[in-house]
Amino acid sequence: MVVIKKYEPKYFEDVRQVCINTGPKEASTNPNMRDFILFTFCDYYLEQEPENVFILVDEETDTAQGYVFGARDFKTYIKNMKPYLKKVKKTGKENYRDAIGEILGHAIYSFKYPAHLHIDINEPFRGNGNGSRMISTLTEHMKKNKGVKSIMLIVGTSNKRGINFYNKNGFKTVRVLKGGTVMAKEL
Ligand SMILES: CC(C)(COP(=O)(O)OP(=O)(O)OC[C@H]1O[C@@H](n2cnc3c(N)ncnc32)[C@H](O)[C@@H]1OP(=O)(O)O)[C@@H](O)C(=O)NCCC(=O)NCCS
Repeated sequence: MVVIKKYEPKYFEDVRQVCINTGPKEASTNPNMRDFILFTFCDYYLEQEPENVFILVDEETDTAQGYVFGARDFKTYIKNMKPYLKKVKKTGKENYRDAIGEILGHAIYSFKYPAHLHIDINEPFRGNGNGSRMISTLTEHMKKNKGVKSIMLIVGTSNKRGINFYNKNGFKTVRVLKGGTVMAKEL
């Protein structure tokens, strides 16, 4: 059985592993790429906004097999993201450029959509509505407890499953950029 739970620090390494498993293949073999992925797409949320993290827990093993997390507003995000960007810089120029690109992607739309999210689930735990239940859990929480009115995300333009998933969950395409598609939802 799997259940959606509020994040607790004991799941820190599990969540980071989900981020690596669902990231580019190189993240599993190249330590610099691993660090870049974790500093850019994971650690900020777990350490700076843990109340905005929900996880999919496999009760049999008590391990996190998926996560959904977000930043409630862009100003707080950019301010508190700085130390993580410094760490990314140490992993190489290209990684730093990519991390800045990710942040700029959010910055451009931050006036209309100050909040953003990420969701990833280990392969055996996808389907059966797990992703949909998780994304509703986060968006309901953001709306009720954080006063968030709309939320955005960036998904790889080639990730057709992801785009289908977000459409199914009420997200609309805002713009198709070179590497990613910007999608958003009014809450
Ligand atoms: C995207 C993801 C979180 C969705 O979670 P999930 O548990 O598979 O989603 P659900 O079971 O709630 O599926 C909801 C909808 O997504 C779409 N979807 C799910 N699996 C699909 C597949 N294999 N092919 C196409 N669309 C699919 C369907 O529209 C589905 O609705 P349906 O079940 O009525 O057909 C999960 O697949 C995942 O972690 N993928 C890898 C990482 C990723 O792409 N993350 C997003 C990056 S921005």
